[in-house]
Amino acid sequence: MKVLEVRNLKAYYDSEVLRGINIEIGKEGVAILGPNGAGKTTLIKAIFGLVKTEGEILFFGKPIQNLKTHERVRLGISVCPEGRRLFPSMSVEDNLLIAGDEMLETVYELFPRLKERRKQPVKTMSGGEQQMVAIARALMQKPKLLILDEPSTGLAPAIVKVIGDAIVKIKEMGIPVMIVEQNVHLAFRVADRAYVLVKGRVVKEGRVEDLHSIEEHYFEM
Ligand SMILES: Nc1ncnc2c1ncn2[C@@H]1O[C@H](COP(=O)(O)OP(=O)(O)O)[C@@H](O)[C@H]1O
Ligand SMILES: [Mg+2]
Repeated sequence: MKVLEVRNLKAYYDSEVLRGINIEIGKEGVAILGPNGAGKTTLIKAIFGLVKTEGEILFFGKPIQNLKTHERVRLGISVCPEGRRLFPSMSVEDNLLIAGDEMLETVYELFPRLKERRKQPVKTMSGGEQQMVAIARALMQKPKLLILDEPSTGLAPAIVKVIGDAIVKIKEMGIPVMIVEQNVHLAFRVADRAYVLVKGRVVKEGRVEDLHSIEEHYFEM
């Protein structure tokens, strides 16, 4: 059974932003690529019911498009949002505990640096460390699907590699991952399949091995 299926999904603000897209996510990692403004974050909002939509969204085969956001979260969809949305004055650990407590040791094993700094206010940490907190917080919900919205934005290449290593380990823990990225290298490292979204439409999809030419095309779009 598919983890997530999106069928003929349209999404609207004032105008139509997603123009009828189809996406399937199984146990493998899936990347959503595409330029700024393509509708990637809107797709995530649609999955969570934060924007007006038409079409079907199935989570483990169950239609969820009419559920409230908190009900979708409770089913096990978790997001590490664009811009992280952490509580800057609160400690690392308090930011994590907001989302639950059962996964604390697991996330500290994944990010030993966060364990070392668990009492430190988030605002005193580097961008890379804050991104680790944001990913860790999303994991605290024990997700059945983890969605990451541009986790590499603004980070130095060495930190992007650390984040990529962590996402690979999350997949190895058996948690399906959907990563939205403009960094094609990171996306291809952590995903088995990819969709390219341009102006609200899927213009290309396939296995990552078959999409290597995407890198050149991608920047022309
Ligand atoms: N809250 C909003 N109200 C109106 N238009 C929006 C809103 N958020 C995004 N948009 C528009 O929707 C389009 C897709 O945006 P977005 O999904 O954020 O793209 P991406 O994440 O791929 O960069 C853009 O044209 C953007 O201007
Ligand atoms: Mg976005």
